[in-house]
Amino acid sequence: MNIKEIKAMAPATEPARQKYFMEHVKARIAELAAEKGRPLTCFISTFGCQMNARDSEKLLGILQEVGYVQGTDENSDFVLYNTCTVRENANLKVYGRLGYLNGVKRKNPEMLIALCGCMMQEPTVVEKIKKSYRHVDIVFGTHNIFKLAELLFDRLYSKKMVVDIWEGTDAIVEDLPIERKYPFKSGVNIMFGCNNFCSYCIVPYVRGRERSRNPEDIVKEIETLVADGVVEVMLLGQNVNSYGKTLKNPISFAELLRRIEAIEGLERIRFMTSHPKDLSDELIEVMKGSKKICKHFHLPLQSGSSRILNIMNRRYTKERYLELVDKLRTAVPDIALSTDIIVGFPGETEEDFQETLDVVRKVRYESAFTFIYSKRTGTPAAAMENQVPEDVVKDRFDRLLKEVQDIAAEAILRDEHTVQDVLVEDLDSHEPGFVTGRLSNNTVVHFKGDASLIGKIVKVSLDEAKGFYFMGTMVE
Ligand code: SAH
Ligand code: SF4
Ligand code: F3S
Repeated sequence: MNIKEIKAMAPATEPARQKYFMEHVKARIAELAAEKGRPLTCFISTFGCQMNARDSEKLLGILQEVGYVQGTDENSDFVLYNTCTVRENANLKVYGRLGYLNGVKRKNPEMLIALCGCMMQEPTVVEKIKKSYRHVDIVFGTHNIFKLAELLFDRLYSKKMVVDIWEGTDAIVEDLPIERKYPFKSGVNIMFGCNNFCSYCIVPYVRGRERSRNPEDIVKEIETLVADGVVEVMLLGQNVNSYGKTLKNPISFAELLRRIEAIEGLERIRFMTSHPKDLSDELIEVMKGSKKICKHFHLPLQSGSSRILNIMNRRYTKERYLELVDKLRTAVPDIALSTDIIVGFPGETEEDFQETLDVVRKVRYESAFTFIYSKRTGTPAAAMENQVPEDVVKDRFDRLLKEVQDIAAEAILRDEHTVQDVLVEDLDSHEPGFVTGRLSNNTVVHFKGDASLIGKIVKVSLDEAKGFYFMGTMVE
């Protein structure tokens, strides 16, 4: 068969179509490996959030299926950057790395370079790549990552850059190979996209409209993961609290959690991200009664000023946010709270900023991710005229960071000298003979141990708090 015939014969429906292309690509990769006398290697570099991390596991699953083995760096036969565009810095990093890859490719002209992820959903980015980064081979977006085998097929049999960006999709393609980073824990997408259009945020434009997976598919996936050794899942969505609302048979996120809790063998459930506007009493009730949901809640604040929150289109006030925190702490007293905060949103005054500090002092977060506002072209906030001067933002950012760090260092002391369950995640990268794990409340602890403990839940005495982590001793 020639290439045209192979394409014409491809099944029209997914995932059958991709499985078909995987077989054909696999044959070609095997030929190339035989010519080189060694297996072909692939390397994926992931930027951005947990969504991208999970997407990269799917992409690696496909690449391994077609015969690539995992390389350790960019000196690989197939290099893929899964990009993020939530802040300007994320884009700059990718352009920097692409410049570097140009030199790598000169030494190995047969290597393939692919780009995917959120940044590729921006037309100006793709134009720039087509014009100035001709050494890139494949460009695709967030809606068609399942199509990697087909795109790779197209590129292997043509000399042109393959560009395939979808503006949106209703499709959720299930049942393709996935290569997990950790054997004992896994992210699980429960929904895709976002409908909230916070005025500073690019995510709804690059990830498309909100789509929930069927609860049956989610439960089935987790059961399969548990049978394969997974003890902890992280349910992923931009706004998990609105899960299920648009399904044909709507169900709530709280109900989904109840069903997941019932899966035998699963030990820990985490989720990300909760939007305060959709945080329900039902969810708080479920958390209160749960043995498996971790005692950690990530509740992005963004700003403590109700005036700014309104312009951000967040649809809650400072008072409502504090009320939710109270409810959570009343229902689950030892819960740890973390958050995201943006400093320097257009029009933010010193008074607005003081409101943010006030919430930080009242809530006393166990951890907080602080960001300098980054102008994202195409979002409403980018067109606002009263952008805050850089030096003012920097000064506020430094003050916020100090407050956040001081409070977190105090908050962690609460658990010092207690004994807690720890899921061991890895060997300690700094201290030979030590391992690293996480408490239910997400705090990291280092203690003496070896690789045989990885993936196990053990009891650890938290001997000494060191800022944001513990040094401990295993007690059983
Ligand atoms: N869906 C999640 C957030 C996803 S983006 C939520 O609603 O909380 C992760 C974080 O990046 C956001 O919480 C926000 O704090 C930050 N962020 C998003 N857009 C930003 C921008 N333009 N500038 C700075 N930080 C931004
Ligand atoms: Fe962005 Fe808001 Fe959607 Fe979060 S909820 S991804 S901040 S638009
Ligand atoms: Fe970045 Fe896309 Fe996540 S823009 S934060 S990788 S959804």
